[in-house]
Amino acid sequence: MNAPDPAATAAAAAADLTAALGNGHDVAVVMGSGWAPAADAFGEPAASVGIGDLPGFAAPTAVGHGGQVRSVRVGDRRVLLFLGRTHLYEGRGVEPVVHGIRTAAAAGVRTVVLTNAAGGLAPEHRVGQAVLISDHLNLTARSPLVGATFVDLTDLYSARLRELARSIEPDLAEGVYAALPGPHYETPAEIRMLRTLGADLVGMSTALEAIAARAAGIEVLGLSMVTNAAAGITGEKLDHEEVLAAGKAAAGRLGQFLVEFIGRLP
Ligand code: HPA
Repeated sequence: MNAPDPAATAAAAAADLTAALGNGHDVAVVMGSGWAPAADAFGEPAASVGIGDLPGFAAPTAVGHGGQVRSVRVGDRRVLLFLGRTHLYEGRGVEPVVHGIRTAAAAGVRTVVLTNAAGGLAPEHRVGQAVLISDHLNLTARSPLVGATFVDLTDLYSARLRELARSIEPDLAEGVYAALPGPHYETPAEIRMLRTLGADLVGMSTALEAIAARAAGIEVLGLSMVTNAAAGITGEKLDHEEVLAAGKAAAGRLGQFLVEFIGRLP
């Protein structure tokens, strides 16, 4: 049997999504590890659907990932909140990792905010700090695209959306996000290597979704929450529960920021 066509699966998921949540969504936010409390800043959802109930999605396995798509309003805008994402380290391949983005695109979304939890490589990074992603290093050795799809990634993390974000928080830092497959955290030697390569943040998501979004003509804002100093930066050991707890503590405030950002979208 041939593998199912990703575009057809996304179209089927978008049809079920709009049947459950209605039409007219033009913004999506993907909530990363620990970002779930940020979703609550958007208030009661008008409707929601279980991610695992839509074609092509499986319920997320990572601890701390919800598994719901909510429809919320910000002013006149209708927004899809994806609580939970599929990671490469779940071992299902690349398609499920980017299926949410393709589904959002098929449902009419033109702007996506990709959030994540990341290790901070810069000594000045503080736990709980939000950092705008200015660019990425895709170190997963994978692409969501196949065939002759030579997509330009020069302005992948939209400069004008970053500017809009800084009009709300002028001090918002920016950095380059290194995406690794995980699920293990990095060694201190790998973190030193990543610093040499120009990375400021390290995590296990976002890059493939950003590429899929760009290929679908969606404008991307990337926002990392620094949940820990990357391995070897402080000598502290990394603990997944602590990473999640750090995320929770800062996420409410970041949710307010996201609401304001979407409210100001042109
Ligand atoms: N490394 C990789 N992924 C992460 C980290 C990290 O230090 N923190 C949160 N996600």
